[in-house]
Amino acid sequence: MYELHIYQESFDQYLKDKVTSKEPRNLYEPISYILNLGGKRLRPVLLLLVADLFSGKYKNALDAALAVEVFHNFSLVHDDIMDAAPLRRGEATVHEKWDVNTAILSGDAMLINAYRLFENYPDAVFKELATLFSTTAIQVCEGQQYDIDFATMEDVSIAQYIHMIEYKTAVLVGASLQMGAIIAESSVECKTAIYEFGKLLGTAFQIQDDYLDVFGDPIDFGKQVGGDIIENKKTYLYLKALEQADEKNKQQLLHLYSINPVDAKGKIDTVKSLFLQSKADEATKNAIQEYTEKAFSVLEKMDLSEAKKEPLRRFGENLMNRQY
Ligand code: IPE
Ligand code: IPE
Ligand code: MG
Ligand code: MG
Ligand code: MG
Repeated sequence: MYELHIYQESFDQYLKDKVTSKEPRNLYEPISYILNLGGKRLRPVLLLLVADLFSGKYKNALDAALAVEVFHNFSLVHDDIMDAAPLRRGEATVHEKWDVNTAILSGDAMLINAYRLFENYPDAVFKELATLFSTTAIQVCEGQQYDIDFATMEDVSIAQYIHMIEYKTAVLVGASLQMGAIIAESSVECKTAIYEFGKLLGTAFQIQDDYLDVFGDPIDFGKQVGGDIIENKKTYLYLKALEQADEKNKQQLLHLYSINPVDAKGKIDTVKSLFLQSKADEATKNAIQEYTEKAFSVLEKMDLSEAKKEPLRRFGENLMNRQY
């Protein structure tokens, strides 16, 4: 039986020991702050699980697990500036609690420190981890740029949207799993398949993030509900609503996504009702299910015992039911 809470606890302890504040305080305190706000620890837990499944040990994967979590948190600190987000994990975002300059620089330091954690691995493993990490990190930047560009573009296709979320979100989930396999010195086939599994799961994960951004409970979600609507983000909900709405509602939606009212409540409420009327919410739920099932079919084909597939499948199922 592979118990996820063991990885989570082990990871949290490791993070607590490694991430300490020092001078200059305004550089390091925001780093401790964001990392200690918690979060689901999805990527490090997956990395440790795979290392354990494939090699029977996970402890020497802790540095890589910390690297992906630090990188993820770096990307959130900068993402929150870009998205003008006030809340993260139920608390003030770094640029709100400090200021934008602090958030930029603390984020930069996190990115560098994430890389340094790979230096603790033997040369061959270091090289493989660092190469994967660099490829992934640049894809995340590309995905984030598409996300920003799409907000002011009129016709974004579902295919373009999927490519964007694969880059901004899914590749890091895939890479986290693959890092577990690299540290376990698994076969090339195994490393490729586990990456693919993670990328599909990560795609489902981001579509669900879009869903929760509109339909989540503000307390559970821990982020500003409606933030994507305020920022005119071309999410799966929006693209499906455009596709499925009648002409009048479609025009209204297009109009609402071309304005930035100071008081956003009216816009959020109307957009929400347009999403519901067009059944974009159902289409979105179906897409989450579809990508999760695609991930499971990759898992099915893997040369792995049923007992080892089970925790990975369980993880995917739990993700689909999450509220935050
Ligand atoms: C948030 O990631 C950013 C996305 C890629 C959707 P998570 O939902 O994993 O955030 P935390 O770490 O649990 O807060
Ligand atoms: C985040 O996408 C992707 C990255 C941080 C790279 P979102 O902007 O949707 O993430 P949240 O909703 O702010 O967590
Ligand atoms: Mg954001
Ligand atoms: Mg964003
Ligand atoms: Mg989001």
